Amino acid sequence: MTLQFSLVAASTSPETVETPCLVVGVYENGLLTSAAARVDGASEGAIKRQVESGDISGKAGSTAVLYAPAGVAARRVLVVGLGAQKSFDAARYQKVHLEAARALGRLPVDTAVSFLADLDVPGRDAAWRVRTAALAADHAAYRYTATFKPREKAAQPELQSVAFVAAHEAQPGLDQAVAIAQGVRFARELANLPPNICNPSYLAAQAQAFADANEGVSCRVLDHEAMEKLGFGSLLAVGRGSANRPRLIALEYKGGNEGDKPYAFVGKGITFDSGGISLKPGAGMEEMKFDMGGAAGVLGAFVAAVKMRLELNLVCVVPAAENMPDGDSYRPSDVLTSLSGLTIEVLNTDAEGRLILCDALTWTAQTYQPKAIIDAATLTGACVIALGKHASGLMSKHDELAAELLAAGEATLDRAWRLPLWDDYQVQLESGFADVANIGGKSAGAITAGCFLSRFTEGQRWAHLDIAGTAWDEGRKGLATGRPVPLLVQWLMDRAG
Ligand code: BES
Ligand code: MN
Ligand code: ZN
Repeated sequence: MTLQFSLVAASTSPETVETPCLVVGVYENGLLTSAAARVDGASEGAIKRQVESGDISGKAGSTAVLYAPAGVAARRVLVVGLGAQKSFDAARYQKVHLEAARALGRLPVDTAVSFLADLDVPGRDAAWRVRTAALAADHAAYRYTATFKPREKAAQPELQSVAFVAAHEAQPGLDQAVAIAQGVRFARELANLPPNICNPSYLAAQAQAFADANEGVSCRVLDHEAMEKLGFGSLLAVGRGSANRPRLIALEYKGGNEGDKPYAFVGKGITFDSGGISLKPGAGMEEMKFDMGGAAGVLGAFVAAVKMRLELNLVCVVPAAENMPDGDSYRPSDVLTSLSGLTIEVLNTDAEGRLILCDALTWTAQTYQPKAIIDAATLTGACVIALGKHASGLMSKHDELAAELLAAGEATLDRAWRLPLWDDYQVQLESGFADVANIGGKSAGAITAGCFLSRFTEGQRWAHLDIAGTAWDEGRKGLATGRPVPLLVQWLMDRAG
């Protein structure tokens, strides 16, 4: 369940609002927002006193709580630092909403009224501000609980809802946020699950359950026997070392005209990546449960598009497999025949993502003749080295499609950065034994992975998102982020007009 959201009229006086917690902002150097100034005036200087004492700094994302200040109807006032006013921008706006919601999560309140969605953000309208605020709040409120021992009922109330003070024109932004938040939660929950639960057949069952529960959605699943008959030689090789057999999952949504070609998403669904015979080192291997982050992302975007009832046709294809070492595993030097007919020399079984994606991309193009194909994949460590945790890597030979996706990333702050797919890099994939090798050597690893995929998408309007750095937060307690759901959904919304 996502948080519940509502709007409160922009004319509301903050000091009169009865709520367990009122949220207002303060810039650096003691500059109060108008809502903070109203609260300060009504409470005879309760905020300014704390600014003067240094208890409230205005530093971006810092928070302080005033309990039951005199003259104010709210039980508490959460004062959130906004940083310097002159540099206040969209990214800062998102950050302060995230930190405000984190602070609310630590307080014994089940609801709050926030005046932070009323702040001016250069180049962004009221609907954007409300949508971004709601998504940030829901992001902070998400808790992973699926595999904890059932705990006793929480001792203190938990945040259930937030109301934002904003013009009523912002309502569409709030409606979009509710749909997108459902998609983000769907993606995060799937990706956070352990791989002994979330295996290929589990992913297929989740997709099927979603189709059963939603009008206009159908699901088909190919098992390994069906894929053998069709010639998925590359995808099947990756899955052969695991007792959890691979699946190809395809969700279809008809929200547009009958007969209109769909948009297509393809997501890497490696439910655990041990590396296979080219075994990964032990340290950090547990993070490879997130190697189905691309699958989770495209499924989440699909969920959001359906919840929004976008007027377009969409397919979401997930090749799902587990990469494990075994007596029956594929091995370095194997030559595979892909669904496209191209042969592939395996030089490293840990470069498995591209091997399941190439067959899925071929099948998607053949089956649907889509208007465009976007794949999302936790594909290379090299992409994390190049761009870190902040930007997804975007690769495409289509400048217009690349520009659309970059713009969708900027709009949602779920940003991507483009890397080139020039033919100059293709020589790195040459093989003496097959049409193409599955690795391209140590330089430009993210790009050569993209180049590999480009060989299977010729003639398609195709783009690739490498989300290896953005799909989850690193560390022992790192959670899936739900990226690139916001980017993909924005791109679809822009296409639906
Ligand atoms: N799933 C990994 C990529 C990855 C690594 C994502 C670390 C996030 C964090 C992928 O299957 C892989 O193992 N890639 C190899 C490719 C190499 C063998 C050419 C890599 O990046 O090391
Ligand atoms: Mn791998
Ligand atoms: Zn992988």
